[in-house]
Amino acid sequence: MIIHFIKLVQKKLSRFIPATIEESVADLPPKILITGGLGFIFSHVTEYFVAKGWRVVVIDNLSEGSCPEIIDGSFMHYPLHMANPKVVNIILKENPDYVIHASSVTDVDYSIREPYRTLRKNILSTLHVFEACRNLSNLKKLVYVSTDEVYGECEERVSEDKVMLPRNPYSCAKAAGSLVRIAYENTYPTLTGKTAETRFCNVFGPRQDPAKIMSAIKKSIDEGYSIPLHQEGKGYREYLYVKNIPPAVDLILEKGLGVYNVTLNDGFTTKELIEKAREVTGEEIKTHPSHRPGMDLKYQMDGSRVRALGWEPLYTFEEGLKEYLVGGRE
Ligand SMILES: NC(=O)c1ccc[n+]([C@@H]2O[C@H](COP(=O)([O-])OP(=O)(O)OC[C@H]3O[C@@H](n4cnc5c(N)ncnc54)[C@H](O)[C@@H]3O)[C@@H](O)[C@H]2O)c1
Repeated sequence: MIIHFIKLVQKKLSRFIPATIEESVADLPPKILITGGLGFIFSHVTEYFVAKGWRVVVIDNLSEGSCPEIIDGSFMHYPLHMANPKVVNIILKENPDYVIHASSVTDVDYSIREPYRTLRKNILSTLHVFEACRNLSNLKKLVYVSTDEVYGECEERVSEDKVMLPRNPYSCAKAAGSLVRIAYENTYPTLTGKTAETRFCNVFGPRQDPAKIMSAIKKSIDEGYSIPLHQEGKGYREYLYVKNIPPAVDLILEKGLGVYNVTLNDGFTTKELIEKAREVTGEEIKTHPSHRPGMDLKYQMDGSRVRALGWEPLYTFEEGLKEYLVGGRE
C-alpha cells in the first residue's frame, strides 16, 4: 500500500523533475576548486571565475598572504589546512570539473628558517590534492602552480624542459610538487592527459604581502618604510602584473598540457626596479643592506610555450607598474 502510494507521488512529480540527475548536472556551469584561493595571486583568480559564472570552491586556511576580505558568499570556502587529510574527502565530495593547486608556504625567508615545516606542509598538501584528484570521476584538468625558482640560477632564459635545480627550501618543496605531478600523471590513467603546471616569474600587484619586493616598494613610497636590499640589489627577476594571471590560468585549464613558464621577460635587478618605481612616482625609496643566504642572483625564463598556446597579456609591465603604484588605468 505504502509502495503504491510512493509510486503514485513519483509519477505525479516526474514532470517537474529532470529525466536524469546527469541531465540536471550537465546544465550547471563548471565547478572549479582552488586551493589557496584567498592568497595574493589566486584571490584574483577566484574572483575571475566567480565573475565568469562558474561554481567556485576554495580551500584556504587563512594563513600568511591570505585576503579574507574577498569572502562575500559568492563562492564556497573551506577554512582548512591542506596538510589535513580531511581535505581529500572534501575534494571528492565537491567532485569539481577543474582543480588548481596554488596553496603554499610562499615566503622564502620563512622556508630558510623553517625548512622542515615548509617541506612537510607543502609536500603533504600537494599529495592530498593528487590523491583526491586521481579518484575524481569528472575531472577535466588539474593545474599545479609552481615557480621560476625551481630552475635555480639561470644564466640564460630557460625553457620548461630544463632540469630543476631548486636552491632553497621553498623552491625545493615546489619542485617536489612538480615531481608528484609527473609521477601521478604517468601512473594513474585517470590523470593521463589531465594535468598542467604553471611556473610564474615574480608577480606583483594589489593584495601582495608587504614582505615581497614590489609591495615593499609601494609601502616605502606610501609610508617611508625602508626596504631590506638583499645582495646589494643585484638580484635579477622578471616581473608580471597580477591581472595578467587569471586569463593565462583559464587558457591553461582549457587547452594546456604539461609545463608553462609564464613571463613577458620584463627583467630587472632590484636596484633597477627601484629606479623604475622612482621614475613612475617621483618619490624617494629608502633601502638598507641585507643578505639572504643561498639567494639565486638570476631567474629568467623562455615564455614562448604559453604564448604559442594563445596567451595575450592584458597589461604590459609599465601599465601594471603605473596602475599599482600611481592608480587606475588611463
Ligand atoms: N607571488 C609570486 O610572485 C609567485 C611567483 C611564482 C609562483 N608563485 C606561486 O603562486 C602561488 C600563490 O602565490 P602567492 O604569492 O599568491 O601566495 P600567498 O602567500 O599570497 O597566498 C597563499 C595562500 O595559500 C593559503 N595557504 C598557504 N598554505 C596553506 C595550507 N597549508 N592550507 C590551506 N591554505 C594555505 C594562504 O592562506 C594564502 O591565502 C603559490 O603556489 C606560489 O608558490 C607565486
